[in-house]
Amino acid sequence: MPPRSACSRLGAAVRYLSGKRSSPTVKEIGIYETLPSNSRVFSMIQPTGRIHLGNYLGAVKSWRTLSSTNPESEFIFGIADLHALTVQRPAQQLRDFRYQAIASLLSSGLDADKCILYFQSAVPEHSELNWYLTCITSMGQLNRMAQWKSKAQQAQNSTILDDAVVEATKAGLFCYPALQVADILIYKSTHVPVGDDQAQHLELCRTIARLFNSTYAVDFFPIPETLLTPAKKILSLKNPEKKMSKSDPVQAGCVYVTDTPDEIRRKIRKATTDSVQGQWKFDPVQRPGVSNLINIISGLTDRAIGDVVADLDGLKDHKALKDHVAELIIDEFDEKRQLYDDLLQNKDYLDSVCRKGSDHAREIASANIQQVKHIIGLD
Ligand code: TRP
Repeated sequence: MPPRSACSRLGAAVRYLSGKRSSPTVKEIGIYETLPSNSRVFSMIQPTGRIHLGNYLGAVKSWRTLSSTNPESEFIFGIADLHALTVQRPAQQLRDFRYQAIASLLSSGLDADKCILYFQSAVPEHSELNWYLTCITSMGQLNRMAQWKSKAQQAQNSTILDDAVVEATKAGLFCYPALQVADILIYKSTHVPVGDDQAQHLELCRTIARLFNSTYAVDFFPIPETLLTPAKKILSLKNPEKKMSKSDPVQAGCVYVTDTPDEIRRKIRKATTDSVQGQWKFDPVQRPGVSNLINIISGLTDRAIGDVVADLDGLKDHKALKDHVAELIIDEFDEKRQLYDDLLQNKDYLDSVCRKGSDHAREIASANIQQVKHIIGLD
């Protein structure tokens, strides 16, 4: 195989998305994205236990790349344990999930000396700003968000005004995006790397930041840019019409960072593909299974889909493709899995990382909340 040609994407470092996403505040992250110095980059993941390939390629890997290639910027990555409360679970499970989430971030290569890593619930200013922002956010703005509808298992064209929907939807789930806006704005963040399922919440964030600034006639909150992670959505290996997900009843469809090499080989070998022989093609509609595998290779090797497809010519059949994908995943995850296991044995260390992170985060958040209180007249 030819050497990795990351340069093919390098030229696209500041590629604005065309068409529907014409806003300059949304752009796809280049592999070695150069951020303006003094940027403050912020993002979060929910603690849902160990992370899978979709979480890794969709979020954590790009956080690692951004934070290791932009020494002039500041990076804050949090575990959204308050958002996690929109799903009820036993307290001990939440405790375990929180540790698993922080161990996943560290074992995936985030450097606690370069990034602030912390739990959302350890910084009460998130909740405080959430309230102030909820007071300027209209129900209509929240009603238009797509994510609460899918999480509440409602149709995308449903509305909170339907009797059945309003009864079935918890207020926390409906107001979830306002807390997300507070997460971002409490640090006056300038850039937010997320997968495209979060793009709508980021659009809301810009709307609310502008609304706050205009309501109080200040230029306080920066308008944060969305940095879309380059990896396209990773789909279930067994059902490549759906997103790879931990809650997929068919667990063979989901590869975890913690899977052993044998488990990875088994899952990839059983991945749904197709019976088309001959030429390889990236065609998510006609050939979703094969395209998902190509997408995984692209995400793992930082190469453009076209380059990946061109290199597949040497692979004679689906089995060869699967073996190739399995070995790439094993290579990527093997050390991470061992580190993850070690970290989970060392809760004191995890506690110390989070304590240091939340102290640092609180310093920034409390200074900002003081100013917000002054702006709105609560001082
Ligand atoms: N809602 C995000 C998700 O489900 C997680 C999240 C919470 C987040 N707060 C955030 C992401 C702030 C970016 C910025 O993935």
